[in-house]
Parts: sequence; structure tokens; C-alpha cells
Amino acid sequence: MKNIGISLLVIITVFISTNANSEQSPEDIIKNRQAIFSKNYNTAKRVQSLSSNGDFDEAKKLMLEMSENYKTLKEMFPDNTKEGFNTEVLPLVWEEKDKFNSLMEKASNDMVELASVIENADNIRGTLGKLMWGNCKACHSKYREEH
Ligand code: HEC
Repeated sequence: MKNIGISLLVIITVFISTNANSEQSPEDIIKNRQAIFSKNYNTAKRVQSLSSNGDFDEAKKLMLEMSENYKTLKEMFPDNTKEGFNTEVLPLVWEEKDKFNSLMEKASNDMVELASVIENADNIRGTLGKLMWGNCKACHSKYREEH
């Protein structure tokens, strides 16, 4: 009897929390996407130092993690998150959503490519610049406020 009670409680809790997730407030979405961007920034710096030190196994793991994060980020710009809560996003994102989305996809795909070429790259810095840092800049210069 006690076990059934616990199972029910678990089921109800899971149900409530999944429901809450699918109806995140604009504030939650904005805060969450900013947190993921910040995390990607820290991860990118680690990728840079690990690669420079020749620690490619660990670097590649982080590259693929960043690639997945971009896929998550791409879904985090719904219409109700254009303004407020200190967002730095520019309205152009929604005026040309397809272009913005393809930049996210490119950033994600480039991290996968980076993971496959970095070990044999002649120029580690240049390769990171082209396949990782270049995408930050390309997107920010159009879709993120000056900060
Ligand atoms: C395809 C577009 C795109 C790409 C690629 C991209 N960013 Fe951003 N980034 C944004 C947008 C849009 C914001 C503003 C989000 C907001 O404030 O709601 C942002 C915000 C940020 C922030 C601020 C987060 C905060 O706490 O407010 C950091 C840091 C950041 N990006 C780092 C990076 C780095 C580093 C890279 C590359 C490794 C990168 N971004 C790649 C679009 C992009």
C-alpha cells in the first residue's frame, strides 16, 4: 500500500514538472538561453586551451556538447521572448528567422566538423577561429545588441 502511494506521488510529480517545462514563461526561456550561451562561452575557452595542449579527446567531447547546445538554443527563441528580462536579442531574429536558424545549424554542424579535423589540423588556432569563434561573431554582429 505504501509503495503504491509513493509510486503515485512520483507519477504526479513527474507529470507536474514536465507540464511546467512545456509551458516555461518568457522570463525562464530568456534566462535559460542566456545561461546556455554563457556556458558555451566557458566551454569554448576550455576547448581552446585543451586543443592547444593537445588534449584532443577531452576537447572533442566538449565540442560535441557545444554542438548539441546550439540545437537546444535554436528552439529557445519563441515569439513571446523578443523583449524584456534584460535580453540582448535584436528583433531581426524574427524578421529573418530562417537565416538565424541556419546560422545556429551551421554553428552546430561546424562543431561536429571541428571535432573530426582538429587532431590533424596544421593550424590549431586558425581552425578553432574558423569553425568555432567565427560563428559567434557572425551571429552576434547581426542578432545581438552591442554590449
Ligand atoms: C546563431 C546565433 C549565435 C551564435 C552562433 C552564438 N551566439 Fe551568443 N548569443 C546570441 C544571441 C541572440 C544572444 C542574446 C541572447 C539574449 O540575451 O536573450 C547571445 C548571447 C550570448 C552571451 C551572453 C549571455 C548572457 O548571459 O546574457 C554570450 C556570453 C554568448 N552569446 C557567447 C557566445 C559564444 C562564445 C559563441 C560562440 C562559441 C556564441 N555566443 C555563438 C546568438 C548567437
